[in-house]
Amino acid sequence: MDDRIISAKLTNEDEEMAEFSLRPRFFSEYIGQSRVKENLKVYIEAAKMRGEALDHVLLYGPPGLGKTTLSNIIANELGVSIRTTSGPAIERPGDLAAILTNLQPHDLLFIDEIHRLNRSVEEVLYPAMEDFALDIVIGKGPSARSVRLDLPPFTLVGATTRAGSLSSPLRDRFGVMSRLEYYTVEELTLIVSRAADLLQVPIQEAGAVEIASRARGTPRIANRLLKRVRDFVQVRGEGIITEAGARDALDRIQVDKMGLDHVDHRLLMTIIEKFRGGPVGLETLAATIGEESHTIEDVYEPYLMQIGFLQRTPRGRMVTMRCCEHLQVEWPK
Ligand SMILES: Nc1ncnc2c1ncn2[C@@H]1O[C@H](COP(=O)(O)OP(=O)(O)OP(=O)(O)O)[C@@H](O)[C@H]1O
Ligand SMILES: [Mg+2]
Repeated sequence: MDDRIISAKLTNEDEEMAEFSLRPRFFSEYIGQSRVKENLKVYIEAAKMRGEALDHVLLYGPPGLGKTTLSNIIANELGVSIRTTSGPAIERPGDLAAILTNLQPHDLLFIDEIHRLNRSVEEVLYPAMEDFALDIVIGKGPSARSVRLDLPPFTLVGATTRAGSLSSPLRDRFGVMSRLEYYTVEELTLIVSRAADLLQVPIQEAGAVEIASRARGTPRIANRLLKRVRDFVQVRGEGIITEAGARDALDRIQVDKMGLDHVDHRLLMTIIEKFRGGPVGLETLAATIGEESHTIEDVYEPYLMQIGFLQRTPRGRMVTMRCCEHLQVEWPK
């Protein structure tokens, strides 16, 4: 699954490096998500005016929409340092305690995949977020006692693709919750043009639109498609990405006009051919196509639902007429 060209997840280290160089550093370079951006700007400005740490921020939404980018921008705009870690990386409460005690006042701590924190680690986080304090237990057995350590005021920025699987005590401790949305083709066109500039690849507006419209509303995918298109265009010696050049390259890598690839096609065609268009239960569907149900739920479905190709009903998943039109098959209803 992760070797899909349209995977919204980071696929390897090279890509991580490339992403770093394309990553916007300030709000002025961050395209789209205007509601989230405008609100955050106000909170940042207010925190700076009061000379306080920014309230804790939870960023949620599908992968590749810019959560990591945004957290770095928040730190840059606040003018503070950022310490980055992730839920699964913090194994024991002591790991988190070490990170917290090493923060400077007003620093930003970014915890990616925060829904994957251990319960015992999470419990250290509660007083840290609420009172900037750390409760540590000294000694063992009956003589054990708890000591409270003060922490510097800091801002926690948590990122997650599933806000629903966050425990409610943790969720409640975030003062700001921002949901990132899929980008429009117009916004992605700007993102592609900007990335092409940074990569020093000449591109025509129509070429950027072509890439943007197949990028599933996701900047990470847009940037990746741009790089693949660049390869084709370069090898063919064309020198500039045109609409036709982009279309041809994207057809070759089998990303269709709506940004769907063979995996999406297989999922949708399975529902159509084996289950007469649905409804089919998630588990049954997962078993039929040999994928894990949470992968279907978190990775494939959000975009398919967003474009109105798939519906979640109480009785299971159903394809829509629109989907059948796109796949050029008869609607089984
Ligand atoms: N608003 C934006 N404007 C321009 N480029 C963006 C924007 N958002 C994201 N990008 C680009 O997309 C890439 C992926 O963004 P980012 O790593 O922040 O996603 P993410 O939401 O953290 O994903 P994940 O959930 O997988 O961690 C960035 O390197 C950046 O180049
Ligand atoms: Mg990220």
